[in-house]
Parts: sequence; structure tokens; C-alpha cells
Amino acid sequence: MEIYLDNSATTKPYKEVVDKMVYALTDQYANPSSVHRKGVIVEKEIKNARKEIAKYTGAKDKEIFFTSGGTESNNIIIRGTAYANHRSGKHLITTKIEHPSVLNTFKDLEKDGYEVTYLDIDNNGLISFEDFKNALREDTILVSIMHVNNEVGAIQPVDKIGRYLSKLKRKVYFHVDAVQSFGKIDFKPSKYNIDLMSVSGHKIHGPKGIGFVYIKETTKIKSIVTGGGQESAFRSGTENVPGILGLSEAVRITMENLKDNIDKINNLKELLLNEIKSNIDNIKVNSSENGVCHILNISFIGIKGEILLHYLEEDNIYVSTGSACSSKKKGSHVLIEMGLLSKEIEGAIRFSLSTMNKEEDIKKAVGIIKEKVEELRIIINKR
Ligand SMILES: Cc1ncc(COP(=O)(O)O)c(C=O)c1O
Repeated sequence: MEIYLDNSATTKPYKEVVDKMVYALTDQYANPSSVHRKGVIVEKEIKNARKEIAKYTGAKDKEIFFTSGGTESNNIIIRGTAYANHRSGKHLITTKIEHPSVLNTFKDLEKDGYEVTYLDIDNNGLISFEDFKNALREDTILVSIMHVNNEVGAIQPVDKIGRYLSKLKRKVYFHVDAVQSFGKIDFKPSKYNIDLMSVSGHKIHGPKGIGFVYIKETTKIKSIVTGGGQESAFRSGTENVPGILGLSEAVRITMENLKDNIDKINNLKELLLNEIKSNIDNIKVNSSENGVCHILNISFIGIKGEILLHYLEEDNIYVSTGSACSSKKKGSHVLIEMGLLSKEIEGAIRFSLSTMNKEEDIKKAVGIIKEKVEELRIIINKR
């Protein structure tokens, strides 16, 4: 039996998602651009998938565009908005703790002559609203802030930022990387005055290699993926039909039961935290109490997180030391920016939960974590 506690890295697809993908692969394999009947049927399936996603996102169908996931969504939105609006200014704002798909895109834009302000965070992983206001300039064209940080679960005040930007006399576009918040926080981009939003399928029990962007219809944006004109010529390329149908199924299941899902995951997180606190000493909790429902980052002092991770995998318990994408590099940029000591960074483990986890699994996992931590501490103290 396995206990999978790495749901921020990816989630297990719902059975309905897999069934829908098998249906798309076996029956609906025609090219949606083909003009024959079989192609038209597939085109209709995509149209319905878009409608379903738009409904749960509180958007118009034409504001939803399919992509290959969070990384591509962030890339094409940030670059596309910067390129389309450079005549109004070349200043961009983001934070120091974004996902690499955002940070490296901004680094690239700097080489193209754009100026980027990277906002600091406090020891809870939060930016200061004052800093954000002070960073705004006459030539700012885009603000890009992640909703939920993937390593510690900090929730940025994107509602407040959106409200503020919407009241400015000049247009400053607002992009939110919602990869870790869509399906974990009850919100709609239009309510928060978000112009652009990135979502990934595999974080919500959908398929990998599929995602979508929400682009408010009034947004001035340039397409950077040119070709046959699919996705209203914003993102060309033959559509990933199994991915799109699977994604829409994942969105439906996630969003239909959103409040219950959030409550369930929050309760599991509380249980995990309380069990760890009452069973294991010398720990530091790096996620704040007001963080997202599914992420809990904890440092086990004196232990290397990576070694604990491998000890746990022997018992089929799967966790992470940071984000899956950056975990092979030394030291998390997020924990460093939060001002953690090196022993705290070294010993950090990210637990991330989903509705597929069970209470008894959490209790069992903590029992094993306790054993492994004690074992490792004895070995280290003998050295
Ligand atoms: C906040 C955030 N943004 C973007 C991504 C990238 O998404 P994808 O894996 O779909 O490219 C991730 C993945 O971990 C993420 O956590």
C-alpha cells in the first residue's frame, strides 16, 4: 500500500478522467480541424469542454485557451502581454518566489530590454502590499503574482492587488499563476479583477501536458505560438484532444464539490500537522496557519530532507523536499527568501495532500516518519 503525499508535484487522475481519455483516444481520434463528419464531432467535443471549463471559471468560452500546462501558460501569457504592450512601457512586476516558468521568463525579458521588479517576501512567504504599490511606475504594463506558492502554500493577496490595479487610470495587466490555487481556493478571476490566469491539468487530478489560460477578452496580447490558427490563432497546433476532454472532466469533478473538497483537505492537513507536532520534536513549521489547504512544509532539524525522503519511500510514503521541478537543485529559493536558517532549509519536507488521502493513512505515515526521524537522528549523533 502506498501513501502519496506529493500532490503539489502531481495528482493521480480521477477514473472518470482516464475513461474520458481512453474514449478520446479510441473513438474521437480525428483531427478537429478536418472538415469531415468525424472531425466535426471532435471539434464539438472540444467546444463542450471549453464551455464546461468557462462555466466553472466564471468566464466566457472565448476567454479560455488550451495549452500544454502551467509552464507554457505562464510563458505565453507573460511574453505575449509584454510584447503586445511595450509601447506603453517596459516595466514588469513579479515576486522573488515565483515558479521557475515565471522567473526564467522574466529573466529572458530582461535580456530583451524590459525592466523587472522582483518583490521581496516576509518570513511567512508573503509580499507586502505597500512594496507592491511602491513598485508601480508610469511605465508598468504587467504585474504577475502567483496565487499560492507551490513550496510553502502561502496565499498572496491577489484580490487586493487586482482591486487596486483595476482602479488605476492607466491599464496595468494582472496575471495570476493559479496552478496551485485552482481547485483549492474558491475564487473567480473576474471577481479578483484578474486579466490573465494560468492553470495546469495534472494538479487537479487531470492529465499531464494539458492546461488552460484565462484571458479577459479586452486584453491586448500577442500570440507567440504561430501556425495553423487553432485556439482562435492564439495558440496554434493540433489540439491535444484526450488531454482537453480529460481536463474538462477533472475541472467538473473538482469544481462541483469545491467547498467539500477544500474542507476535507484542510482537515487532513490539520491532522497531519497535529500528529507531527505531538509526536516529533525539534521541528519548524514553514507553512503559515493561513496557507492553502493542501500544502504543509516542515523542517526536521538535524536531518537532511532528501535522506528522509528516500527513507520514507522504502515504506511507500512519497513526499517532496521542494517543488518537483527544482528539488534536484541545492536549496529552495523560496525558503532562502523566507530567511530560513540553512539547517532549516536542509531539513525541509513538503507534504501535499488531496481528497484521495485518508485519515488513517496520515496517522500511519506520521508513525513511520517519527521512526525514521529518530533513526536518522541517532545515526547523525553517533558521528
Ligand atoms: C505554481 C506553479 N506554476 C507553474 C507550474 C508548472 O506547471 P506544469 O507542470 O503544468 O508545467 C507549477 C508546477 O509545479 C507550479 O507549482
